[in-house]
Amino acid sequence: MKVLIALFVVVLVDVTSQCSCNTMKWARCDGDPCQCTLQFSKPYKQPIDCTKLIPKCFLMKAEMYRARYNLITRSIGGKPVETAFVDNDGIYDPECENEGKFKAIQCNGTDVCWCVNSAGVRRSDKGDKNIKCEPVETYWVHLELKHKDVAVPLDATKLKIGIENALLERYKLDKKFVSEVKYDKDGRLIVVDVKKPEKERITDLSLMTYYMEKDIKFKPLFQDYKPFEVSVEGSKVSMENILVYYVDEVAPTFTMQRPTGGIIAVIVVVSLIVIAGLLVLVSTIYFSSFI
Ligand SMILES: *[C@@H]1O[C@H](CO)[C@@H](O)[C@H](O)[C@H]1NC(C)=O
Repeated sequence: MKVLIALFVVVLVDVTSQCSCNTMKWARCDGDPCQCTLQFSKPYKQPIDCTKLIPKCFLMKAEMYRARYNLITRSIGGKPVETAFVDNDGIYDPECENEGKFKAIQCNGTDVCWCVNSAGVRRSDKGDKNIKCEPVETYWVHLELKHKDVAVPLDATKLKIGIENALLERYKLDKKFVSEVKYDKDGRLIVVDVKKPEKERITDLSLMTYYMEKDIKFKPLFQDYKPFEVSVEGSKVSMENILVYYVDEVAPTFTMQRPTGGIIAVIVVVSLIVIAGLLVLVSTIYFSSFI
């Protein structure tokens, strides 16, 4: 009897471990050989490779589908360079190429269209269906992470090693792409620059950022739900927020860069000085005509 139970357990464990997808908790896996798919719409399922991170374009489509059917929802510091930008639009229903890359033009199922980079983030103004878009690669992502309180202050050098290890283990990101890690102890701010050589088309940086935003702001996309933690000198550091800037090989084409508060204040002060100057000038001329 014991042998039978043992055999049963072995078979059970074997079947379940063979057919699941740790890189994607929303995946449906079944069959022999094991096949994993992501659901995008009622009849359509995208086959996926669970040995890798799933392309962001597929994940966004699946997320839109899940939001539509109430399965889940999502809501979504300083620029590294002037051309860097953040994702203010949040999620839309993207058009993906066969391998899971974003099409350069996206319309969210409407007549309003815009251009996106390889990370699927809008890099142009919105226009109509005739808008011209070229594929543009995001070669640099600038991550601003805020870590939770820690008992002992972190050592910046050890922190860099910890970040590199965490990104490699969790998101399979080669350490050579982590170009810089800066640390502000008082603000609990960790700034990580992940860069690949321009023209490199093998690594997709958007994979990592999408998984990472989910890990930190929402819930991990990984089946095992293990949180994202950075190990620094044996202690685990977890993150409470993340902001991602994207830098593309070609600068984005937004026309209306809205003036920020600081610029508006400067404009107001300059205008006041000019007006005051004019008043002085006018009154000087006016009074001098009486002398
Ligand atoms: C895309 O469309 C959905 C509704 O279908 C809307 O909630 C969402 O805000 C749109 N996203 C963008 C970026 O326009």
